[in-house]
Amino acid sequence: MNKKGIILAGGAGTRLDPLTRIACKQLLPIYDKPMIYYPLSTLMLGGIREILIISTPKDLPAFRDLLGDGSRLGIRLEYIEQPAPEGIAQAFLLAEDFLAGSGATLILGDNIFYGKLDFFRSALAMEKGACVFGYHVRDPERFGVVEFNASRRVISIEEKPKLPKSNFAVPGLYVYDESVVARVKQQKPSARGELEITDLNNAYLRDGALEVRLLGRGIAWLDTGTPASLLEAGNYIATIEHQQNLKVACIEEVAFNRGFINEAEFELVISATRSPDYRRYLEGVLTEWRQQPR
Ligand code: G1P
Repeated sequence: MNKKGIILAGGAGTRLDPLTRIACKQLLPIYDKPMIYYPLSTLMLGGIREILIISTPKDLPAFRDLLGDGSRLGIRLEYIEQPAPEGIAQAFLLAEDFLAGSGATLILGDNIFYGKLDFFRSALAMEKGACVFGYHVRDPERFGVVEFNASRRVISIEEKPKLPKSNFAVPGLYVYDESVVARVKQQKPSARGELEITDLNNAYLRDGALEVRLLGRGIAWLDTGTPASLLEAGNYIATIEHQQNLKVACIEEVAFNRGFINEAEFELVISATRSPDYRRYLEGVLTEWRQQPR
């Protein structure tokens, strides 16, 4: 079953104030691109071409201005407001018409992944159930945290526990089968009045339908929640891009490499690129592609 993508770009970004007083968090720069390019490219690299962007009534127009309907990238982008911050899992209720009975993958608009995305692609290929990931972190109490029993089986996920039972945080990238909307409809808001993504994952877990795949080394999951971590994430991307002269999360390059757009369409994208450096980079991608034997 084909899965559709959702990017949830909500939240007040309070810990980044005053950076987020005017611009929303997911539009802040991560080195040379707006933050949302990174989760968008993650979905595209997973082969997802139908994507719903959910944000606040105030911020949604800015995302639409930035990304449009996606046609220049060979993808389809839709937009819907989340009127109030009532939880990550609420995204699936808002997305019900968009999903139209298909499975879904949700990525949070501030989650940046770098590395080989096979773990994501294989999760997307699952027919049934849900898949989330576990990532070793220094400060698990800030996240959903995986709890294992003595034989290393996952027995629960706890949302921001004071005393985390492992160092494995659950990143904001989730894959669900088509039962997701019906499951969220059964869910009750938490004490803080939100439909919690962790409650949804635990509901799948109780039914024996949740896979938790631990990500080893070789995948970077970068945090952007504080001014310091935002800067570190930007520096990380800058380091990789300078060293390799390959861009990370260049959505135009991804669209072309994945075959979402053809050569002529890529040329149009290039000619509409305003930054000379960014344009030169895309021209380089096209030149290298033309030189490849085929
Ligand atoms: C959310 C989820 C949490 C997850 C995290 C990943 O927390 O509730 O389970 O680990 O995203 O980024 P938030 O960042 O909204 O506080």
